[in-house]
Amino acid sequence: MNLYNPYTPGAGFPPSFLAGRDDTIENAEQTLLYVQNGIVQRSKIYYGLRGVGKTVLLNKIEEMADDNLVMYEHLEVSEDGSFKSMMATSVQKLLTQMSVKAEIKQFAHKAISVLKAFQIKYSQGNMEYSFNMGDIIPAYGTADTGQFENDLKEILISMGVVAKKTDNLVCFFIDEVQYLKQEELTALMTALHRINQKQLPILIFAAGLPKIAKLAGDSKSYAERLFEFVSVDSLKYEDAKQALVEPALDQNVQYTQEAIDYIIEATGGYPYFLQEYGKQAWDKMTDRCIDLNCVKEARRDFIYSLDKSFFKVRYDRATKREKDFMFGMVKCGDLPCTIAEVANQMGTTPKSIGPLRSQLIHKGFIYATSYGEIDFTVPQFDKYLLRINPDLIIDKDRTM
Ligand SMILES: Nc1ncnc2c1ncn2[C@@H]1O[C@H](COP(=O)(O)OP(=O)(O)OP(=O)(O)O)[C@@H](O)[C@H]1O
Ligand SMILES: [Mg+2]
Repeated sequence: MNLYNPYTPGAGFPPSFLAGRDDTIENAEQTLLYVQNGIVQRSKIYYGLRGVGKTVLLNKIEEMADDNLVMYEHLEVSEDGSFKSMMATSVQKLLTQMSVKAEIKQFAHKAISVLKAFQIKYSQGNMEYSFNMGDIIPAYGTADTGQFENDLKEILISMGVVAKKTDNLVCFFIDEVQYLKQEELTALMTALHRINQKQLPILIFAAGLPKIAKLAGDSKSYAERLFEFVSVDSLKYEDAKQALVEPALDQNVQYTQEAIDYIIEATGGYPYFLQEYGKQAWDKMTDRCIDLNCVKEARRDFIYSLDKSFFKVRYDRATKREKDFMFGMVKCGDLPCTIAEVANQMGTTPKSIGPLRSQLIHKGFIYATSYGEIDFTVPQFDKYLLRINPDLIIDKDRTM
């Protein structure tokens, strides 16, 4: 029988074995169950570095929601500012699904008229409803005031009322939530605040880069009471080991202990890197055994593959000046570092590079750590920058 490579490096690609997230998934399942039984729960924001498995986790919870007959919509926020119209479309789809039964039509009537007003204001989209609801008149003056905080609250509440009356739970899965504009995040939180007060069955599961916790806190002082912020991190040793070993078991392929230790050391237990290394090591295997020789031999391909995909697509999004700033960070040696240290490396003042710092945070390259220092959102990005610019003089040897 031909062996097939079971590893899945890629954006949001479900791994053959989802390691180390059992507690988080169980907690999400409980939350769904509670809200389905009318008990208000905090929504969740999963935050962590690039490639740590946030999207995979979100999709897993989505699957669970699906199994439990929860109605849901998945949104991926982008930098292009389309969140408002995405929300209009999502609410439209949910309302349409909830109103297919004739006896429910009357509850949905008001919600659809509110949504129509919202949609005229924010997306000018064509609306297609089941059950000939197209002739409902928009509720002018409700969700079309132009004040997004009010308008989003209006459509979500009127939809929440329909959900409650029809015994539905509605979930929004929102990925890349750090790209929400401050105004949008504030609106989402205001709506959620009101939804909880009215005990409406709506939950949000969001995922994003670490800066989201700060953004949410800046938007509303009660963010912590609305959302549970859940850190998604690299995998602990035993979990990382499972992420490598389990996908191979089906085909009777084994790892030696030394090979496992070597890969975990090189990858720092980051899920994306584990998948990539597993994939490359698999291709070097002989006799259904992945040993130390084989993983050492695969190391070049592992790095080459990361460099040309995972790292490069991100690097290419930076401008020349942004790249200079990031090289300045690498020159600092140990990360995180302060902006004063970066300025020092660049031979300039912190003030002059302040805007660059903000730009890089906005674009999701770097984030401010809890002590106000900065670090990369992409694990081992410093090592990559050093590989493509080996002449950089740094304080410590950081080669991979
Ligand atoms: N718990 C896990 N166990 C094993 N592999 C995982 C796990 N979580 C994620 N992966 C693998 O890691 C890779 C990255 O996952 P994912 O795209 O979900 O990360 P992410 O945090 O959403 O990254 P980004 O911030 O770039 O969107 C995928 O190849 C996926 O198969
Ligand atoms: Mg993702």
